[in-house]
Amino acid sequence: MVAYPDDVLPPDERWDLVHYVQSLRRKEAQIGDILASDGHLPAPRFNGPLPRDPLDPAWERLESVWIPLSPLWPEPYPLPGVAVRALHNGQTLALLLQWRDETFEGAPVRVQDFQDAAALQFSLTGRTPFIGMGDPDNPVNVWQWKAGWQQDVDGERPDVDRAYASLHVDVYPEPAQHGLYRTAAAAGNLLASHGLKSPIEDANATGFGTIATQSSASQNVHGRGVWRDGFWSVVFLRELTSPDPQDVQFTPGRPVPLALAIWNGAQRDRNGRKVFSNWQQLLLAE
Ligand code: HEM
Repeated sequence: MVAYPDDVLPPDERWDLVHYVQSLRRKEAQIGDILASDGHLPAPRFNGPLPRDPLDPAWERLESVWIPLSPLWPEPYPLPGVAVRALHNGQTLALLLQWRDETFEGAPVRVQDFQDAAALQFSLTGRTPFIGMGDPDNPVNVWQWKAGWQQDVDGERPDVDRAYASLHVDVYPEPAQHGLYRTAAAAGNLLASHGLKSPIEDANATGFGTIATQSSASQNVHGRGVWRDGFWSVVFLRELTSPDPQDVQFTPGRPVPLALAIWNGAQRDRNGRKVFSNWQQLLLAE
């Protein structure tokens, strides 16, 4: 851009120009102080109970790391990246993800509906295998937050009568018969369950096409997601150690490979249709 002689633009018009250029920056860049990812995600030590609320001002004291995302499927408006903050207090690890999403897509009620979601993928071997959900020698532990599960936890999960107000039901099986009709729920399949304790699914995979939810008793990842002003903010929380061999273990000072994926329900994202990151090294401060 050519330099203007001093007398062409008066000072206030120069500031107008500065603000106009700033307004061209990506919205995401306005999520607090942001550092471009260099492949490392630091988790400083925090004294006391960790902020469980995604909107807790305590998170603002931390710089976030901007992690670029790539679409796995051609999409009109793929999300370019996600801002991530991580903290631990020697007992528990907390990660906050924030990303731009103009619209809220919750529990899919109709067949054409898809929900917003976000996932963290941890390598269980410390190696960085194929980013596509590991391989048989390098299993991964996956934590997936789902907007529909968040609604369930918040007691706001919509059902078909929300989508079809004039819906008519002839007969509905007695609760005692539910096992006959709602077999997945009766078998304890979390995907079919209501009254969930956490909006986050704890699962494992050894390559794409193999993802499997851990049992209800093994679900030990907690968190909360809030959609506000066109942004999702989602906190994931888990103890640093777990008795479950399928779970990733965190030790301060020992890096853990981590990757991220985000689904935008408005773009009909589900399964392998998503945006994902490359491997990052999560490092808990000693
Ligand atoms: C090249 C990269 C990737 C490929 C090709 C891929 C492919 C797939 C495919 C085909 C599915 C559906 C089948 C299945 O359930 O396993 C799937 C589901 C899933 N993937 Fe991936 N994936 C990739 C990366 C990732 C990453 C980095 C994460 C986590 C950070 C992830 C998390 C998930 C989750 C949670 C599901 C279940 C989704 C749902 O229930 O809607 N994937 N992926």
